[in-house]
Amino acid sequence: MSSRKRKNVANRKLAVSVHSYKGGTGKTSIASNLSVYLGQLGKRVLLVDMDFRAPSIQALFGVADDDVEAYINDYLFDKSEVKQVVIHPPKIDLPVDIILADSTPQSIDLITLKLLAEQWQMNALMKVSKLKGTALNELKYDYVIFDTSPGVAHSSVNAMVSSDKLLLLTRMDGPDLIGTEKLIKGFYRQLQPLDPHIVVNFAYPSAITKDEDKEKTRRTLEKRLKYPIVSIIPCLCDVMLSKLDSLFILKNPDHVYTKCIREISEVLF
Ligand SMILES: Nc1ncnc2c1ncn2[C@@H]1O[C@H](COP(=O)(O)OP(=O)(O)O)[C@@H](O)[C@H]1O
Ligand SMILES: [Mg+2]
Repeated sequence: MSSRKRKNVANRKLAVSVHSYKGGTGKTSIASNLSVYLGQLGKRVLLVDMDFRAPSIQALFGVADDDVEAYINDYLFDKSEVKQVVIHPPKIDLPVDIILADSTPQSIDLITLKLLAEQWQMNALMKVSKLKGTALNELKYDYVIFDTSPGVAHSSVNAMVSSDKLLLLTRMDGPDLIGTEKLIKGFYRQLQPLDPHIVVNFAYPSAITKDEDKEKTRRTLEKRLKYPIVSIIPCLCDVMLSKLDSLFILKNPDHVYTKCIREISEVLF
């Protein structure tokens, strides 16, 4: 890495959204492991759960309910300030903090109703943008990472318009690629200059067996999706079968998944 690039690594402050057309594409896994990886580089990271319909960060970081003073729901409902919803996960010895979304069915119901109300949305958008500003400028985080709901959920739009970078995940199967293409044409183009960086997850082994296969797959998909592909992650049973409350890269520093996370992090420096 050149000294100029290293200087940029030291100075960059960014908000990043991790998004996809469908659920189950690996957003939460990537947002969480990427946060941990940046933390391992000494970066101060705030990971925010903006998937109000299926909050998962709490489980992944193994945080007990009793350790949560307030959720992002409380912040959006004007009951808490940004600082009150920030938690340091007790099991993580890195400069990574998290803001969790409430996963009780009542809270999911309530916020899902509110997400449909335009006036509430305007206020929520303002608050998410304020959260980003407070985190990067006042609380001195280097990165804010938003884990989002799939598709064009209002909460995801709020995260994305408050972000400097977008990581768009897609699987390689037909329906997901078709949906991703439509999302790019009908939605992401309107968010310009926020161009997505694409991550292909659950890649078929046959598409990436040899380096030349992987390059061919990359070229074909880039031609189709018209944005750069920053990583092609194979379908990995190790990741699928890892314990729920474990962050994969912590226990598997030399694994191919960890290498892919490192590859993705390159676009954030
Ligand atoms: N490359 C991969 N190979 C195999 N399983 C994966 C891979 N990436 C993620 N997973 C698994 O897929 C499931 C869904 O991932 P998750 O990150 O929760 O997706 P999302 O947040 O998009 O719904 C999880 O069980 C996760 O461990
Ligand atoms: Mg998720």
